[in-house]
Amino acid sequence: MKKHILALDEIKKLSDDIVATFPSGIIILRGDLAAGKTTLTKNIVASLGLDDEVTSPTFSLQQCYSDKVFHYDIYNKGIEHFISMGMLEELEKDGLHIVEWGDDKLKEILVDSGFDVLEIYINKIDSDTREYLIREYK
Ligand SMILES: Nc1ncnc2c1ncn2[C@@H]1O[C@H](COP(=O)(O)OP(=O)(O)OP(=O)(O)O)[C@@H](O)[C@H]1O
Ligand SMILES: [Mg+2]
Repeated sequence: MKKHILALDEIKKLSDDIVATFPSGIIILRGDLAAGKTTLTKNIVASLGLDDEVTSPTFSLQQCYSDKVFHYDIYNKGIEHFISMGMLEELEKDGLHIVEWGDDKLKEILVDSGFDVLEIYINKIDSDTREYLIREYK
């Protein structure tokens, strides 16, 4: 497990490292409201050299950036809805899939199905600082 404590202006180092070492697969982002899940997603998209605007996909199941990054937020509808809408099939598309509010259940299903999974917990330390705990399942 890797651990980083980063201020907002230091996240780019982490997102550059993520895209270099985990170019495709599923990233599960965990952490409370306003922990910084969408902020990390924005940095990852920028680290890939894409200039797409990243917004929280609160009311859509999926947002796609330049056919390379697929962004999901399952806070509202939950994991059952996500699966029942056939989203596990979507996760097989080439590219990087980033799931805000993924949980243990999703992680287990994905790992058991043979997906490469990067799990990132984001914990608020103070207003400008977050702890990032990162574990890779391959
Ligand atoms: N080190 C940091 N890392 C990430 N975000 C930070 C950091 N420091 C401050 N912030 C601020 O915290 C907020 C994080 O909001 P963000 O929308 O990324 O959270 P979220 O986890 O996606 O929330 P939600 O659960 O509502 O989707 C932003 O306003 C961001 O500027
Ligand atoms: Mg968000």
